[in-house]
Amino acid sequence: MQVLSTTEELRHYIANLKAENPNKTIGLVPTMGALHNGHLSLIQQSKEQCDYTIVSIFVNPTQFAPNEDFDKYPRKKEADLNICQKTDVDIVFMPEIAQMYPLDSTLQTTFNAPKNMANVLEGKTRPGHFDGVLQIVLKLFNLTQPTKAFFGQKDAQQLLIIQKMVEDLFLPITIVSCPIVRTQEGLALSSRNVYLSENGKKDALKISSALNAITKAIMQGIQDSKALKKIAFEVLENIEVEYLVIVNRELEEIKTIKKDSTLVLIVARIEGVRLLDNLWF
Ligand code: PAF
Repeated sequence: MQVLSTTEELRHYIANLKAENPNKTIGLVPTMGALHNGHLSLIQQSKEQCDYTIVSIFVNPTQFAPNEDFDKYPRKKEADLNICQKTDVDIVFMPEIAQMYPLDSTLQTTFNAPKNMANVLEGKTRPGHFDGVLQIVLKLFNLTQPTKAFFGQKDAQQLLIIQKMVEDLFLPITIVSCPIVRTQEGLALSSRNVYLSENGKKDALKISSALNAITKAIMQGIQDSKALKKIAFEVLENIEVEYLVIVNRELEEIKTIKKDSTLVLIVARIEGVRLLDNLWF
């Protein structure tokens, strides 16, 4: 496994790899580290679908607002490297901030993520967050030149906005949308689950149960969003729901669900812990 920390090393390595293996494919798994089973499934997908797998580990400052936890964000370099080694990753790219942002902020090319998609839901309380995500993701795409890049469906809004950028900027990359990884009981994996008590975990299961109830209702022929939300809210009784929306791929709320283009997004707070879950059709 190659561990690279400068953009120069990475560019050189990729140029050689491409020159020596022109027909081989490269998979990129962008992460901010603190790797867990959700990331492992992205790595696994990349290994199945591509000849080489690159994992980037970089806590990106431009996607954190000044009041957010950039400094406190978990950094687990050794553990992450061990996981990458064990899962047979080919290249780990672990740069310092100055490598990824060599220019003063006044000289940087910044992004405006599509406002209809970036200023709603998660973006409502995190202005500029998705601009920072696009800025770093495009830099990583340019440096690694992947055939495919792997993102989790758990961060549905991020995934859809990245897909939109790839479409809009004609980027020659396939974005692979990877299903949410769950505990046996159905709880979507998240690094925040550790903050839940046993009772909290039981309550949290109501979130995936609500999504299952929606799936069942759709299979029975219910297509009206209002009716589907009502069914979900019955399951979510006593749970503090921040939002439960039924949207299309542009994140616009829809009245009637459509096959292949509908998402149900839920954010709920349990014991003060903010939990995200969703369902893709
Ligand atoms: O999902 C994440 O971990 C980050 O937003 C990403 C895509 C690695 C960009 O920093």
